[in-house]
Amino acid sequence: MKEQIKELRQEALAALTSAVDLVQLNERKVLYLGKKGKLTALLRGMGNIPAEERPKVGRVVNELRDELESLWTDRENELLRKEQEARLQKEKIDISLPGRQPALGAFHPLSLTIQEIKRIFIGMGYQVVEGPEIETDYYNFEALNIPKDHPARDMQDTFYITDNILLRSQTSPVQIRTMEKQKPPVRIIAPGKVYRSDSDVTHSPMFHQIEGLLIDKNITFADLKGTIQLFAQRIFGKNTKTRFRASYFPFTEPSAEVDVSCIMCQGTGCRVCSDTGWLEILGSGMVDPRVLEMVGYDPEEYSGFAFGMGVERIAMLRYGINDIRLFFDNDVRFLQQFKR
Ligand code: DAH
Repeated sequence: MKEQIKELRQEALAALTSAVDLVQLNERKVLYLGKKGKLTALLRGMGNIPAEERPKVGRVVNELRDELESLWTDRENELLRKEQEARLQKEKIDISLPGRQPALGAFHPLSLTIQEIKRIFIGMGYQVVEGPEIETDYYNFEALNIPKDHPARDMQDTFYITDNILLRSQTSPVQIRTMEKQKPPVRIIAPGKVYRSDSDVTHSPMFHQIEGLLIDKNITFADLKGTIQLFAQRIFGKNTKTRFRASYFPFTEPSAEVDVSCIMCQGTGCRVCSDTGWLEILGSGMVDPRVLEMVGYDPEEYSGFAFGMGVERIAMLRYGINDIRLFFDNDVRFLQQFKR
C-alpha cells in the first residue's frame, strides 16, 4: 500500500510539473484529486488492508491529498501569472510613439464663402431663407418683371423641365416667395444653387448665388450703397472701395452693378482686373414698384433694395482661383488647402 501511495505521489507530481497550461493542469487535478480520481480510488482500495493499519494509511493518504492540493494551487498561480505576463507582453503598446492623425475633412471653399457672407448679413440683422431649385416660370421670370421675349428666357440659357417648370436661373425668385409669405419689413438673404446652360473657365452650368432683399418704409439708394460698402469691406478687407455703375435689371429701378477696388492690385491695375483697377461683384437696385405691386405691397408706402451675387466669383477672388471647374472636380489636393 505504501508503495502504491508513493508511486501515485510521484506520478501526480510529474503530471503537475509537466502541465503546460491551466486547462491541462485542471484536467489533471480532476484526474488525481477529483471525486472519481486516483486518490479516491486508492482510499477505496483500503478494504484490503488490515483494520489496524487503516487509520495510519488513511492519514498518509489525507496528508498526500493536502500536499497535492497545495502544490496544485501553487502551480495554478504560477501558470496564471505566466499567462498574464504573456498577455501583457503581447498587448504591449509603445506609448512614446506619436499618435496617428485621424483624417480630418475640411469645408469646401464655396461653403466657407457662403458661411462668411451669411455671417456678415446676419450681423446686419438679415434672416437666411431658402427657396426651391426647381421653379415655375412665374417665380423665376414673370413675377420679376422679366418679359416673355427676354433673352434669359431662351432655351439656350435656361434649363426647362416643361414649358412652365425650370431649374431656377437665379435666386431672385426667393424674393417673390418671401414677400408673398410675409408683410414688410423684410430683411433676408437667400443663398442657393442656380442653373444656366453655360460652361467655360468662369461659368459652370450649376453655380451658387446669394440674393439679398430689404423692404421697409423710407428705404433709399443710400441704404443700398451703405449696406454694400460695409459688406465689401467685411468680405474683402477694410480698404476696399466700391463703385456703383448704372445698369439694367427688369426687377429693379434704378439698377446698378457694383465693382470693388481690385483685391489683387488695390486698384493700380493688374491682370486680374484687366488693368481697370475694378472687379464686378454683384447686381443690385431699388426694387421695381411693379414687383412690389405683384406681391401685394403698396409701393407708395414701402420701398427697398435687392442685390444678387455669384458665390463662385467671390470665392475665386478671395482665394485667387482662376478656374471655376476646380470647385467641382473635388480633387482632394485642391480641397485640402482650405483646411483651417
Ligand atoms: N438675378 C440677377 C442675375 O442673376 C442678379 C441680381 C441683380 C439680383 C440685381 C438682384 C438685383 O436682386 O437687384 O443676374
